[in-house]
Amino acid sequence: MSFKNLISFDEIAESNVNFLDIDSRPDWEEVFGNSNPLNLEIGFGVGNFLIEMGIREPDENFIGMDFYHKGIRKVISRIEKYQVNNVRIVYGDAKEKIPLLFNDQELSRVYINFPDPWPKKRHHKRRLIKPAFIKTLSEKLKPGGEIHIATDFESYALEILEFFEKELTLKNKNGSGTFLPQKEGIPKTKYEKKFINAGERIFYLEFVK
Ligand SMILES: C[S@@+](CC[C@H](N)C(=O)[O-])C[C@H]1O[C@@H](n2cnc3c(N)ncnc32)[C@H](O)[C@@H]1O
Repeated sequence: MSFKNLISFDEIAESNVNFLDIDSRPDWEEVFGNSNPLNLEIGFGVGNFLIEMGIREPDENFIGMDFYHKGIRKVISRIEKYQVNNVRIVYGDAKEKIPLLFNDQELSRVYINFPDPWPKKRHHKRRLIKPAFIKTLSEKLKPGGEIHIATDFESYALEILEFFEKELTLKNKNGSGTFLPQKEGIPKTKYEKKFINAGERIFYLEFVK
């Protein structure tokens, strides 16, 4: 089944079990048909990282959260094309949805790959990664759970680092005040490939609860 732009999101939500437009926590075991660990990617874009992670790690469950319609349609059709049965898409703004959809200590890993940097100073307030959001993520993580972030935008990377270092429930895996310069053995996102090809530096951050 393919999703043309003419099909509304309501229709997709009704007809596609992999797409969830919801405002309260579902029974995740029922959603996935198993009790495997739950991992979340926030802002998956066109979703190649999400799909590849699902394929590479069949014993883990992956939830992608975004509100980019074109990307969501693409991912939904890829889930079906590659028959990836451990990936689900949740529609919406992560700031609103995460508190509603997950119990505390429920998530194993959270990935945020190339969050919009909002480069203009007057737009910095729109950035996703803020102290209150970090606190929410930490609450939803299991002990030992991890948050993985990547950005090419140095001043945002420094701001993220500063905010995380103040969240005492989390520890920088790579040592206080440091970024990971490279990350191997993990799929590359669309933006990541673009930045690598352009020779740009990427800042990887990893925190553990
Ligand atoms: C710069 S793109 C990066 C896409 C992808 N992660 C990549 O690396 O190729 C940022 C993505 O985050 C999504 N996004 C931005 N704010 C969000 C929010 N509050 N909740 C969920 N998704 C969000 C956007 O719709 C977009 O798909």
